[in-house]
Amino acid sequence: MTSAASICVIPGDGIGPEVTRSACRVLATLEDALGGPEFRFDEQPAGYDAYMASGESLSSQTIEAAHRADGVLLGAMDVARIPKEAVQPLQALRKRLNLCASLRRARSVRQGAEGEDVDVLVVREITEGFYSGIEYKVDAHSACAVRVITRGATARAARLAFEAARQRRGKLTAVHKLGALRVTESVFLAAVAEVAEEFPDIAWETKNVDACALELIKVPQHFDVVFASNAFGDILSDVAAAVGGGIGIMPSACLGEVSAYFEPVHGSAPDIAGKGVANPLAAITSAAWLLRHLSMTTLADAVDAAVDEVVREASTLTPDLGGLASSTEVTDAVISAISRASISS
Ligand code: NAI
Ligand code: MG
Repeated sequence: MTSAASICVIPGDGIGPEVTRSACRVLATLEDALGGPEFRFDEQPAGYDAYMASGESLSSQTIEAAHRADGVLLGAMDVARIPKEAVQPLQALRKRLNLCASLRRARSVRQGAEGEDVDVLVVREITEGFYSGIEYKVDAHSACAVRVITRGATARAARLAFEAARQRRGKLTAVHKLGALRVTESVFLAAVAEVAEEFPDIAWETKNVDACALELIKVPQHFDVVFASNAFGDILSDVAAAVGGGIGIMPSACLGEVSAYFEPVHGSAPDIAGKGVANPLAAITSAAWLLRHLSMTTLADAVDAAVDEVVREASTLTPDLGGLASSTEVTDAVISAISRASISS
């Protein structure tokens, strides 16, 4: 096992600092319980509070720290409150780290034996599509948004999606709306097909985005990896969250070929910030994903198993999952589960 691992922690705003604190506590436990590395945490500012304090929502110091670290763990940023003319810190971070795909995993952990488990990974391209940022007024009563699809950006993200499918159950669904968006979707699908040739072991299919949304709700077990352009993937990942576990438990990764960061899918939740009831499990499973990315598979498995145990046992859950426990109590329960597993193994 490596002796030390540096983690750049960007807590952000609202519940971000609360849930990243929980995730760091869990990581710190691994050193004693499972002989993990010594995690060295380097906390860095970004987001709305940082903007109010310094005028910068993402400083070059934070970006350098993210580049330097072995892994980056993010909380959430209150991006909606950052003025339009200021730097959008999430977009800027993705750009500066040269990231091209967002991966969001929806996984149900059944409290009891009912139904089949859901485990869907939604991978989306994050630099273009409907969120290209190219929008303009045509006249006083009309406006346009430009949906940019390029072979290069699609193929780059698709490659990460196929690689993820290879680590999972070997299946990929590419999502489109070819009937309505004939030109852009032709480029999208051609790029996916080209990348698919590098992955003959992956069974892949294409599906219309509306049919995919319906099927995600009716038969989520059909899906392994769903690959989509920017906006479609954003929406489908929320659909997947609704069928698989909910937003309080859903982790995500933002990947490029070199850099990456890991964060819960949820935002800064200003409505519950400071109340001590934020579900820390999304941040904790994001930290587990970071460990997996650093090839610390045993440690990642141990964290995921502990989270599963806490959810399945259902006696220590935050209010969003129907419980009465605080964030700290849930974090303590995960840490206890890790310690128990390490003693019995
Ligand atoms: P949100 O995800 O922060 O909250 C939506 C609802 O889910 C709220 O009722 C909240 O209380 C609940 N919720 C979220 N996380 C929870 C958790 N861990 N435990 C229990 N309940 C939880 O989304 P919202 O309200 O639309 O956005 C708030 C701010 O966060 C906005 O400024 C938004 O732009 C930003 N945001 C940032 C993201 C990021 O940093 N990657 C992602 C999504 C939103
Ligand atoms: Mg969204």
